[in-house]
Amino acid sequence: MAILRMQDIKKDFWQGGKVLHVLRGVSYQFEQGKTYALVGASGSGKSTLLHILGGLDTPDDGNIFFDNQDIFRLANKDQFHNQHLGFVFQFHYLIKELTVLENIMLMGMIKGSSQQECKSRAHELLEAVDLTDKIASYPEQLSGGQQQRVAVARALFNKPAFLLADEPTGNLDAQSAQRLVELLHDAVRSWGMGLVLCSHDEAVYEKMETVLFMHDGVLIQR
Ligand SMILES: Nc1ncnc2c1ncn2[C@@H]1O[C@H](COP(=O)(O)OP(=O)(O)O)[C@@H](O)[C@H]1O
Ligand SMILES: [Mg+2]
Repeated sequence: MAILRMQDIKKDFWQGGKVLHVLRGVSYQFEQGKTYALVGASGSGKSTLLHILGGLDTPDDGNIFFDNQDIFRLANKDQFHNQHLGFVFQFHYLIKELTVLENIMLMGMIKGSSQQECKSRAHELLEAVDLTDKIASYPEQLSGGQQQRVAVARALFNKPAFLLADEPTGNLDAQSAQRLVELLHDAVRSWGMGLVLCSHDEAVYEKMETVLFMHDGVLIQR
């Protein structure tokens, strides 16, 4: 089981000529097969932390290790992402020129899987997120919540070791949110995925084994 470990992560941003110490030295170890919630006020640095954890943004100081490999020193970072990490962004970033089916299949095509294989996995995931009827639609023809579910299906495509999800239920009604959380737990049980999600929604974060608070640039375990 893989481990994703942050060590003394620091990040500042400049805003209006003033420095913001968003992350002041965050250390934590996430284990595969376990579930974690990151909670905290808006602007407390949850998204920043999640992006750095996944290697999408670089810290000013500190390191991220995936099974003791420094992820910022990997020769092939893209391949590492595609193989081990799934991402659900707060603003979902579906490719607008591609249909729902194509957006999901893309994850396998990048990896070199056959078209047939990709199609059948995409169908399976679309069924799981209850969007089979939108298979040929384009992202702009979907509601925010539907787009969010496509983004989740896409992130689960390659059975990532860790899924990093930024407010994945932010646009969903209570019932769809619960269904999505169940789908994520299925992935945890099925292939031992580690789940790290940011959420404001108590009904969502209460279902995670560990709840971590971002406050004043550090993480506090409840
Ligand atoms: N690229 C950026 N440039 C400047 N400031 C940023 C940038 N990204 C985030 N911030 C600031 O850092 C703080 C944390 O942002 P964020 O991580 O998005 O918080 P959260 O996800 O908890 O709402 C906020 O004050 C935000 O305005
Ligand atoms: Mg955020």
